[in-house]
Amino acid sequence: MGELIAIVSGKGGTGKTTVCAGIAEALALNGEKVLCIDCDVGLRNLDIALGLSQLGSLSFLEVCRGEYTLDHATCHPDYPNLFFLTAPMTCMADQITPEAFGAMLDTARSHFSYILLDAPAGIEAGFHLASRFADRTIVVTGADPASIRDATRTAEVLELMGKQNVRLIVNRISKKLVSTLNITVDDIMDQAGVSLLGLIPEDSNVILSAAYQQPLLSCTKRGAAAACRRIAKRIQGLRVPVKI
Ligand SMILES: Nc1ncnc2c1ncn2[C@@H]1O[C@H](COP(=O)(O)OP(=O)(O)O)[C@@H](O)[C@H]1O
Ligand SMILES: [Mg+2]
Repeated sequence: MGELIAIVSGKGGTGKTTVCAGIAEALALNGEKVLCIDCDVGLRNLDIALGLSQLGSLSFLEVCRGEYTLDHATCHPDYPNLFFLTAPMTCMADQITPEAFGAMLDTARSHFSYILLDAPAGIEAGFHLASRFADRTIVVTGADPASIRDATRTAEVLELMGKQNVRLIVNRISKKLVSTLNITVDDIMDQAGVSLLGLIPEDSNVILSAAYQQPLLSCTKRGAAAACRRIAKRIQGLRVPVKI
């Protein structure tokens, strides 16, 4: 059975979509069959991070409604075992019935080894849609106080939901930033109350790859791409040292 992983944060712009795309590519490169679902209803952009914005993609709502099946999910041209469903643009997250969404995810579990759910910012309907059925939740934060505060609040909400497998990714980190802010990764973990899954460095290749409509991992093997590959291995259960 496939594993459902929600990528959440609380605050917008912390890198959920970037992290979701990078981990999905890395898992696919490692031979896993992966389905990525953009849950940012009305504001989708996971297609850009995956380098799929030129292709018209099916939305998960059309699968939930039974108009299409998961066989119609967009297959990534660079990664034959990576598939994608985009977010609908014409409805609100609270109009999507959790039962229909959950039924689609149940079917997805038998077709894919990992299903990654890219959540919107906030802790409202879209967040609940993405995290409600997840086996594992990844909270993405930056090193700045607002991100950490929102990650902390998000972790509290996840705890109230009974979620146990919750881990933290600190994104856009650099040695200079850490020393300037006088904060350590341990401080961030302590504040958020969540243990670390990985660190992702600030890396201009993230912005450049999106601008060139290329998936990050096909542009570079270094920096943020290398960090996503290390995180993917940890998700697969391998022991990989944490480094910036
Ligand atoms: N590690 C990184 N290095 C540089 N830029 C990044 C990094 N992670 C994310 N970004 C940039 O930050 C912005 C927000 O990232 P995004 O993944 O869309 O965040 P979210 O999905 O949480 O709103 C994007 O422009 C993205 O290219
Ligand atoms: Mg996003």
